[in-house]
Amino acid sequence: MNSIEIYDCERNISKIAFEVVEYLELHSLLNKPISILDYGCGNGEVAKFVAENTNYQQYTCIDISKKAIELSKKNCRNLQNFEFLCGDVTEITKSYDIFIISAVYHFLNKEKRDILIEKIKHFLNPDGLLFLLTLSTDDKQYYGKGKSVENHDDPDSFIYEEGYYLHFSSKKELLTDFNLLRIEKIKEFFGKNYTKDVEFFTCWILIGKSKN
Ligand SMILES: C[S@@+](CC[C@H](N)C(=O)[O-])C[C@H]1O[C@@H](n2cnc3c(N)ncnc32)[C@H](O)[C@@H]1O
Repeated sequence: MNSIEIYDCERNISKIAFEVVEYLELHSLLNKPISILDYGCGNGEVAKFVAENTNYQQYTCIDISKKAIELSKKNCRNLQNFEFLCGDVTEITKSYDIFIISAVYHFLNKEKRDILIEKIKHFLNPDGLLFLLTLSTDDKQYYGKGKSVENHDDPDSFIYEEGYYLHFSSKKELLTDFNLLRIEKIKEFFGKNYTKDVEFFTCWILIGKSKN
């Protein structure tokens, strides 16, 4: 029987931050000067951790929320060569060595997800890497609990009472949608105590490399 990894987010940092550093260490890339895009950066905890543990050259944080951008700026105030942009996928206009997309892909509807994938296709540098963390269709807390979205192109997506949208990805969907990349890792995990509002969740970690 397959066992699922349990991730206890006691430091309140997304698992993706550790995945980025581990991957770069394993591939002897920790000292390489790299440019990073952190899309949906939230409070900047991922940015701070990754920046402090790599030899990043330039780090861009994008978030649709002004408050998140303010928090990120505060959290990363002692770090150099940071850029903060408030907006959504349209703000991606430059090339990067690494795209980090943690706990935000599931908030994007099919149209936005497709635009984001196009942006990755266009703006991920040769040998570039994608680190994606997103909700799985195996999630027991929220999957199927909202009202199904009435768009046949967007299955496994729901609207909840508070009006927010969530999309859940299956392994098959991710492998199809990210076939522009060579998939280095795709693994499901069960996380707990991530934020005050989310008690537990089942997510995918996907690491993909540019096919050049
Ligand atoms: C759950 S937080 C994740 C924060 C961070 N990436 C992490 O893993 O800790 C989701 C973030 O995505 C942002 N967000 C939601 N929709 C977005 C969009 N369309 N474009 C950019 N950011 C978005 C939210 O404002 C929020 O800060």
